[in-house]
Amino acid sequence: MKNKIQQKTDAFERTNVPRHKDLRDLIGRFEDVDELSRIQGADWDLEMAALSEMVCSRNPGKSPALLFENIKNYPENFRVLSGAANSFKRLAIVLGFPEPSSEMDLVQCYRDRMKEEFELIPPKKVGSGPVLENIDRDDEVDLYKFPIPLIHEFDGGRYIGTDDVVIMKDPDTGWVNAATYRVMIHDKNTVGIWMSPGKHGRLIREKYFEKGEPCPVLVSCGQDPLLFLAGHSEVDQEVSEFDYAGGHRGFPFETIDSELHSLPIPASSEIVLEGEIYGDELKTEGPFGEFMGYYASDASPQPIIKVRRVYYRNDPILMMANPSRPPSNFTFARSAVKSAMIWDEIEKAGLPGVAGIWCHEAGAGRLFNVISIKQMYPGHSKQAAMLAANCHSGNYAGRWVVAVDEDIDPSNIFDVIWALSTRCDPPEDVDFVRNAWSTPLDTMLREAPYQNNRGIIDACRPWGWKNEFPTVAEASPKLKSQVMTKWPHLFSN
Ligand SMILES: Cc1cc2nc3c(=O)[nH]c(=O)nc-3n(C[C@H](O)[C@H](O)[C@H](O)COP(=O)(O)O)c2cc1C
Repeated sequence: MKNKIQQKTDAFERTNVPRHKDLRDLIGRFEDVDELSRIQGADWDLEMAALSEMVCSRNPGKSPALLFENIKNYPENFRVLSGAANSFKRLAIVLGFPEPSSEMDLVQCYRDRMKEEFELIPPKKVGSGPVLENIDRDDEVDLYKFPIPLIHEFDGGRYIGTDDVVIMKDPDTGWVNAATYRVMIHDKNTVGIWMSPGKHGRLIREKYFEKGEPCPVLVSCGQDPLLFLAGHSEVDQEVSEFDYAGGHRGFPFETIDSELHSLPIPASSEIVLEGEIYGDELKTEGPFGEFMGYYASDASPQPIIKVRRVYYRNDPILMMANPSRPPSNFTFARSAVKSAMIWDEIEKAGLPGVAGIWCHEAGAGRLFNVISIKQMYPGHSKQAAMLAANCHSGNYAGRWVVAVDEDIDPSNIFDVIWALSTRCDPPEDVDFVRNAWSTPLDTMLREAPYQNNRGIIDACRPWGWKNEFPTVAEASPKLKSQVMTKWPHLFSN
């Protein structure tokens, strides 16, 4: 018999939803379905970010994107967008799925695509595009012309790069990595960049530094949300996020070679900085309110980027992600995408029987992940939890993975706590993994090398006596349907 989650996903028919052209096309679509609020007159100095934090946490997964216009002391046409893909409806529009009815519908759609039709689609090089409408060169560069937000009260500076994509090329292989790293403004043409140990951009940067060379870089600060989604997901080494995002879009991103380093500029990006990262010129970067919900690491000396070109569209839209005490304005989308990516990876590693996965927003989409399985053999549940904790998408900065049976919806925290409370024997069912890949942003770490410990919880019915495990005391589906038919008014919304 099919389980609850499977029944729901079967009911979710995939349709051929027409795909978007660029961010501006998406903004129109968001507005058409009442998923965008235009905000007039907010201050870049803390107000935009505070509003975004508060609106997003009122209704996780359902709050609107905010488009800030007429920002205080800035031209009316220089705008800031918050939370582009961060709701059920908007994420479905961005990914080209029909509107989902639940977290698991969304994850299942992504999964189905990865399983059945997904292929990497490399970008297409073009000669021109909207991002070239304005180019500031050398002495003309003045980043303060953009309404760069001060995001949190104790941040060390204004962050131009949060909902960003940092584009770099591996000097040995030519692989183009495009990832989200925070970028803080130091002065009108200098910014600082922070990359956690082990991140692809940091590995690439080190190759240039080892040769005594600065590292060429582009920072896109407003772009198609598909690029941001790929940029902050754990896409495999040597796979370009352009190709991954192109695969989800169904047709290639267009790119233009940059003037200085021939790096690929997304042709429809809103604002793109070009320059070089200098390993021998450090400036104080941070602190910054981070994704775990804390100012978790102190200000530190970090390499700077000297910005020598700024490419931007007319009426540019800077995008803002503001990490905060969860939920943040990107964690819903991250939870959905990460859940699907973990599922995809562990299935490729040979794990059968997965019924669902959800990376909870309360764990910032990384720290508290639940995997639901139909147990098929002894040790299956432990294997599921260990794989979910250790695959590439689930490994960085994780803390808890909980395995539950297939009758538990992993996205329903009530169900999960019930399973933890009734099917788990703490001394037998909780294991620890030590010295795993984490980050200076981890609240539980105080010094290098920033490796953390994990809890792996098996909250499935014990394999050895699962068939004798007490029966769940719940009305049967037949009885439920009988009483619903008799008293329907009690069950209508
Ligand atoms: C809003 C946001 C900001 C982020 N900032 C950083 C950052 O400053 N440094 C970092 O190493 N990772 C940051 N991340 C996480 C990375 O984007 C993520 O781990 C990604 O997989 C890195 O790409 P890579 O695997 O190509 O290095 C951020 C993620 C988000 C959603």
